[in-house]
Amino acid sequence: MTKEYLIAANWKMNLTTHEASILVHHLEKSLKAYRDVEVVLAPSFVHLQPLHQQIDHRKFRLAAQNAYHKDSGAFTGEVSFTMLRHLVQYVIVGHSERRLYFNESLELIRDKVAAAVRNDISPILCVGETQQERRLGETKQVLHDQITTALSNLTSEDIENVVIAYEPVWAISTFGGELAKPADVQKEINFIRSQVAELYGKAAAEKIRVLYGGSVDQHTARGYLELKECNGALVGGASLQHHKFTRIVEAAHAVARESHGQ
Ligand code: 13P
Repeated sequence: MTKEYLIAANWKMNLTTHEASILVHHLEKSLKAYRDVEVVLAPSFVHLQPLHQQIDHRKFRLAAQNAYHKDSGAFTGEVSFTMLRHLVQYVIVGHSERRLYFNESLELIRDKVAAAVRNDISPILCVGETQQERRLGETKQVLHDQITTALSNLTSEDIENVVIAYEPVWAISTFGGELAKPADVQKEINFIRSQVAELYGKAAAEKIRVLYGGSVDQHTARGYLELKECNGALVGGASLQHHKFTRIVEAAHAVARESHGQ
């Protein structure tokens, strides 16, 4: 069976609306529409509406980087999943920058995952340990807590729309950017699937898409994408440069074709 990849560009808090438009313009020229690679762009909120008008929807899907779990109300400054439901297919939830800089708790992230699903948006749930947790040998405990809490309000039908991104904090370029070994990533992705299996059974665990994120660029992407259990990548810094991001998407397409040939 052909493997299908999801390659998501997390632009974080970067680019003006004009710069975002130019980046998409370049990507539209350099990227073909591949049937085996789903390309998702996650710009900041203000760029979503203009990019929704601009993009070729055969080539790109949109994601928000965050949203608030209440559907509406007196929450000044927040954007709800309800407001995003016809604009994006995905929302990144629980990114480590939100957990660490904005003190997002396990329970808040659980509520955001549920709000995404309730609004027909697929959450890309980010999980991963810090360098200190890794040194203390707490990686599995951290992943266990993050996954079981985040998924605890979902039904087995809901879980089909969830994507999990394994992003060890120590491997994110702006947190030190130590390169994770693909063999280690494989182990943690397997552990993530085992947690999903405990909650929703083996079939759900095999089906759920698990991405890798952390210093993925045009050179490192292949090593992670070749892992049997890895369904794609969540790319930060390298997604801001069209030639780098294009090469990552092309790598996914190449690996998908090779897996088809096997
Ligand atoms: P980098 O690719 O810059 O390491 O960022 C990873 C990330 O946080 C994506 O969400």
